[in-house]
Amino acid sequence: MRTQVGIVGGGPAGTLLSHLLHLRGIESVVLELRSREEVETTVRAGVLEDGTAELLRETGVGERMDREGAVHEGIELRFGGRGHRIDMTGLTGGRKIFVYGQQEVVKDLYNARLEAGGQIVFQAAATDLADLETSTPKIRFRRNAWLDVDAGAIRFRGDAEEEELTCDYVVGCDGFFGPCRAAIPDNVRTEHVRTYPFGWFGILVEGPPATEELIYALHERGFALVSTRSPEIQRLYFQCDPEDSVDNWPDEKIWEELRARLATEDGWTLEEGRIFQKNIVGMRSFICEPMQHGRLFLAGDAAHIVPPTGAKGMNLAVADVRVLARGLDEFYSTGRTGLLDSYSQTCLRRVWKASRFSWWMTSMLHRFHHEDDFRYRLQLAELDYVTSSRAASTSLAENYVGLPMEPQEEGELSAQRTGGAR
Ligand code: DHB
Repeated sequence: MRTQVGIVGGGPAGTLLSHLLHLRGIESVVLELRSREEVETTVRAGVLEDGTAELLRETGVGERMDREGAVHEGIELRFGGRGHRIDMTGLTGGRKIFVYGQQEVVKDLYNARLEAGGQIVFQAAATDLADLETSTPKIRFRRNAWLDVDAGAIRFRGDAEEEELTCDYVVGCDGFFGPCRAAIPDNVRTEHVRTYPFGWFGILVEGPPATEELIYALHERGFALVSTRSPEIQRLYFQCDPEDSVDNWPDEKIWEELRARLATEDGWTLEEGRIFQKNIVGMRSFICEPMQHGRLFLAGDAAHIVPPTGAKGMNLAVADVRVLARGLDEFYSTGRTGLLDSYSQTCLRRVWKASRFSWWMTSMLHRFHHEDDFRYRLQLAELDYVTSSRAASTSLAENYVGLPMEPQEEGELSAQRTGGAR
């Protein structure tokens, strides 16, 4: 099999890249380990930055997002029994965020790709990458694969033979646990890691939204977040021990914890409903440098992970593939590789800034139970400052709605100030 760009991973990064390349007349094949149904039904994060929503719209896949997604112009920071609104739109010259599930974005992209005759091979596992330093890199893969989550292993149905996909370029959009990152040799790869001493307990609830805007709360007992997915489904999270098990949390105990952490002096009440999914995720910051080697490029979670606070994960993946699509376009239309050569450097500037923001939001809003009261009091002071200083709340707002997708060396600040030229 031969294609121009071979993409490992059909999540938001891989599928959007394939879509952006198609619009530029560049052919690609996407290999995705999971089945289409599994990707489309797994609920993931749900906040789209202004620039992410705009890119989906500009490239013809934003119609359902505009119809079914919710526009949010602010968030609430809740601490000391009171809520404080951050007017994101007012503070950023009119920019906003969209609450629209990641799996809905991927569904829209699959529809667009498959309608255009695009090739997405589901249940295909990349087994090896070869010849990455030549002009014909290869992805070896096997079909009929599935992920045995309990054993943490990939298994195959029947006697699927290994196949080879020969490409001009290979892109690893295969997530944190995918095989592509390891193809960058150890002696050129640096991995920066920070693990947080807590996780998020997430629930999906049937019922109407509990609030019009997302609430990020810090309480002595820990962090809580009230988010939404649709008029019928709500998403809530609370800080927990990452080693805890959902089996230790019957529904009533969950509601009790959320009620305590979200309580206000004015008696705000939490809308409760049937909980139909529970999960626990650990939290880490991770950055791989560089994000490219030879003719291999990494994008999204394969290259970097942020803790979820602030919802930057998918937005970073979108920014990566936007840069990459432009670089590949330059190569195919002119033969030049300037943009591709600087891919990693371009992306990492934004990745480090979003990592800083996610680390900062996480550090400000979670309880570090093993540390003394001094730290907690500083966090409360920081929240007080952020919600009472225009300068500080503007800083939060411009990061939350999203820093420019491709920062220019000059004019960066003035472009942000007017909310224009991105
Ligand atoms: C959601 C996730 C986040 O990490 C966040 O900061 C806000 C919302 C969500 O899944 O809805």
